[in-house]
Amino acid sequence: MSGCPFLAKAHHFKTDPEKEEDEDEDSQKGTNKDTSGGIVYGEYLQLDKIINAQKLQSELNGNKIHDEHLFIVTHQSYELWFKQIMWELDSVRELFIHNYVRDERNMLKVVSRIHRITMIFRLLVDQFAVLETMTALDFFDFRQYLSSASGFQSLQFRLLENKIGVSEKLRVPYNRRHYRDKFHGQESEDLIKTEQDPTLLQLVEKWLERTPGLERDGFNFWGKLQTNIDDGFRMEKQKLEKMPNGEKKQDLLEDLTKQMEVFTYLFDFKHHEHLLSKGERRLSYRALQGALMIYFYREEPRFQVPFQLLTYLMEVDTLMTKWRYNHVCMVHRMIGNKAGTGGSSGYHYLRSTVSDRYKVFVDLFNLATYLVPRSWVPKLNPTIYKFPFTAECNDSSYSSSGSCSSEED
Ligand code: HEM
Repeated sequence: MSGCPFLAKAHHFKTDPEKEEDEDEDSQKGTNKDTSGGIVYGEYLQLDKIINAQKLQSELNGNKIHDEHLFIVTHQSYELWFKQIMWELDSVRELFIHNYVRDERNMLKVVSRIHRITMIFRLLVDQFAVLETMTALDFFDFRQYLSSASGFQSLQFRLLENKIGVSEKLRVPYNRRHYRDKFHGQESEDLIKTEQDPTLLQLVEKWLERTPGLERDGFNFWGKLQTNIDDGFRMEKQKLEKMPNGEKKQDLLEDLTKQMEVFTYLFDFKHHEHLLSKGERRLSYRALQGALMIYFYREEPRFQVPFQLLTYLMEVDTLMTKWRYNHVCMVHRMIGNKAGTGGSSGYHYLRSTVSDRYKVFVDLFNLATYLVPRSWVPKLNPTIYKFPFTAECNDSSYSSSGSCSSEED
């Protein structure tokens, strides 16, 4: 006899017709409401607009090419998801802009929405696989009908990049031109606005600068960390110097000197400012300290949610980089080294955008360079320092109700 539970179930259905009848009846117990007035599915979703928005240029030109339908639907779904990402992004930016995050209970909302953005991006990264079922030859059959249309002109993609914080200065130009040259009128104005409005990067930066524990007259995390790291390296050096002379000792000492240099630069404010001016760092010095503090104390109750936020922000960057990478691989396969319909060099231009220049939260990735043994991390004595356990929950400057305030209030 088979031990398969599915077969056992099938067997049970056959021998118990009464039960089967009961189940059938249960499945029909709804109420027909579609005639009771009010809005119905198609109306609610305005499907007449969406489902009728696939006009094949090949067909209009009397040469219907089957795969153009997939090409259009894929782009449209990307645009819809871009819209949803911006919906979430704007709500998060609002929470920061209006200082609702002073009430730390709202941080869960921020984190959940950024997490949602990462889930959408995951989908977008994978979605190229569907379009890749189209061959280069199939694409060639209708590419001529696209004339100068190109994803390069996707307003939403540019708005999204700007709102997250892709720096205008760091963008790769195309044919030595500015990315905004492709846009005119209201679209161009919308883009300029997103360049001027606070970006997610800037808002997170301000939030990080407030990390509790950074105050010099309080816990003084940075001062304590520097002392501990100096002491730690001094002790390591003493240990190495006691080793018998030889190649191994020499190598270890050289390695240690390099590590010490890395940390000397970390504690050098001027060096940080220099990297900022070159675009190699994006966060202010104090925000960087806050982020490192959150890394080190991520297990403390008050730092758990902030740590999750930093993790998801890196995820956003990683997934956007993967999006760029998957897109450029597909483009290479579809058009080789031909120029793009939007006027760039195509593959070569796109390949240059898969770079750290476009990684908004690059500083968070680089923090891993500065991880040190747990014993070097300044101790947080809970009887002296209460701040890791007591969150700010109700700031009277924006709420008198005493409840958790948010954008919906
Ligand atoms: C057969 C499929 C595709 C090909 C051959 C293709 C080709 C290209 C090329 C050559 C460019 C560079 C600009 C130009 O000169 O035109 C570009 C840019 C772009 N494409 Fe595509 N693309 C394809 C599918 C998609 C899809 C499905 C999307 C989704 C929205 C998309 C979004 C974009 C965006 C946002 C840019 C600007 C990227 C940047 O400048 O960083 N593309 N595409």
